[in-house]
Amino acid sequence: WSKTGHRVIGEIAQEELSGKARRAIDKLLGGKSIASISNFADEIKADRRFKEFSAWHYVNIPAGKVYNDIEPNKYGDLVVGIRKCIAMVENEKNTKADRVFYLKMLVHLIGDLHQPMHVGRVEDKGGNDIQVQWFGRGSNLHKVWDSNMIDDYGLSFSELANTLPKLDKKGIRNIQKGTLLDWVEESHKIADTLYDSVEVGEKLAYRYSYTWWGTVESQLHKGGLRLAQVLNDLFK
Ligand code: ADE
Ligand code: ZN
Ligand code: ZN
Repeated sequence: WSKTGHRVIGEIAQEELSGKARRAIDKLLGGKSIASISNFADEIKADRRFKEFSAWHYVNIPAGKVYNDIEPNKYGDLVVGIRKCIAMVENEKNTKADRVFYLKMLVHLIGDLHQPMHVGRVEDKGGNDIQVQWFGRGSNLHKVWDSNMIDDYGLSFSELANTLPKLDKKGIRNIQKGTLLDWVEESHKIADTLYDSVEVGEKLAYRYSYTWWGTVESQLHKGGLRLAQVLNDLFK
């Protein structure tokens, strides 16, 4: 996702934190909101010192395969990254600076895991090489899902977070259950349907947004609730 998507996810997660997690996170982030640090992992991408983290934003899985079938990317991937972040934040022997760094990374990566095109195919770089037009301008399938649909919706991140349906405890639990690999599998299945949603060079506009907006909303919602779950688990 681009900025707004990550901030929506941060905002939703913030509301679902346990007291213990909220206090621990406030301490690590110096009182900053989760939304405000949710794009840190993208901001450091331009800095060569952080090159080793660039493959953590996505995981490529061939159609019909699951994560455990694939040859691991030697530079790491979303799953490797999320596991490393959890281990680094969890270990109280690590320096505060390290725990803060990996907490910021973790917040972002749980978000990216819910952008289906971040769990797409290697041959088109998660849809980056599938050119389409978006309201008459050049775009690609990855970018349509990272930013075009969300930006054109025209709401701020907190407005967007507030348009999501209010779920009861059971509805929330239902979304939060499952393992990291279940969530990867779910995003990957959605990615497979998105590959079928466009033709190369297609002119996309209102109809595409109308068809897929519900999926954007539900992926942001799931990302936020599951981020809260991961954080509540980390700071028990
Ligand atoms: N961004 C850059 N390369 C990518 C890939 N292979 N899959 C998803 N997102 C990417
Ligand atoms: Zn992206
Ligand atoms: Zn990212």
